[in-house]
Amino acid sequence: MDDRVRGVAAGRADAGDTRVAAGLARTAPAASGRPVVECVGLTKVYGEGDTAVHALRGVDLRVEPGELLMLVGPSGCGKTTLISIIASVLDGSSGLCRVLGHDILRMRESEKPAFRLKHLGFCFQAFNLNPCLTAAENVAVPLLIGGWRYGQALARSRELLTQVGLAEKVDVLPDQLSGGQQQRVAIARAFAQEPDLIVCDEPTSALDSATGEKVLGLIRDMTHRSHRSVIVVTHDARIFRFADRIVAMEDGRIVPLPPGAGSGLPVVPPAHAADAGAAASADVLN
Ligand SMILES: Nc1ncnc2c1ncn2[C@@H]1O[C@H](COP(=O)(O)OP(=O)(O)OP(=O)(O)O)[C@@H](O)[C@H]1O
Ligand SMILES: [Mg+2]
Repeated sequence: MDDRVRGVAAGRADAGDTRVAAGLARTAPAASGRPVVECVGLTKVYGEGDTAVHALRGVDLRVEPGELLMLVGPSGCGKTTLISIIASVLDGSSGLCRVLGHDILRMRESEKPAFRLKHLGFCFQAFNLNPCLTAAENVAVPLLIGGWRYGQALARSRELLTQVGLAEKVDVLPDQLSGGQQQRVAIARAFAQEPDLIVCDEPTSALDSATGEKVLGLIRDMTHRSHRSVIVVTHDARIFRFADRIVAMEDGRIVPLPPGAGSGLPVVPPAHAADAGAAASADVLN
């Protein structure tokens, strides 16, 4: 464990950790208190030997309570890998990843399902809807696992599906829904339990422009109203205006945001900015 990781693991964001401290100092105004996510020097290597893929090469990242953070970067730069580790569905290789005070890399496998159920909502690139369940039942699944009664869970599902514009589709199976509609079901499901942290991977990739903006507006409202935190991975420049903050990745690292991208936002320069050297190329957002 390097010194930065040890310092944060011990609950300090100060000692010798100027990069983390710099992130804190520039936090968005709405943010306060303990970070929801804190990654320091996080790495991920898939495979080993000659075929090893270094997907994350030392990521430093903080997400504050009530913050909607967008993570952008070219295909293959490590975005899904990063949020999968944060969501405790993928093991990291080294470094620190603390989520809601829990050290994810050192959490026992047996503890993870309960942790995810209690604290996390997911909306992944593959929507992962159960093909045998209706839209409303899909949204109800995390509620039922969490102990809700069937009728109450279905009522809550219908309410959420109405909010994402699918009131007419609550009793329809996924294969009778368009890609964009399936995506909205997955978003409704992610919010069903009002989790502390929601991770969304390309939530607007299958949506037309108007629906994408509507869904992001909804995600933002839910985030701010209930003081939840959301990480949205996206390539979609049309939705940048919904972010509290945008962070860019390239080749497994956090890099400076290209000049002009997300202008007007309280963008936090990445902790790695000083190390990264030359400014990131404009294709970061491609
Ligand atoms: N299971 C795996 N085994 C080996 N390599 C993997 C695996 N999953 C991802 N990778 C590699 O890790 C790197 C990061 O992948 P990742 O899926 O995190 O990228 P991404 O930024 O989400 O890309 P996209 O925008 O295309 O979804 C890529 O080089 C990818 O090929
Ligand atoms: Mg991805």
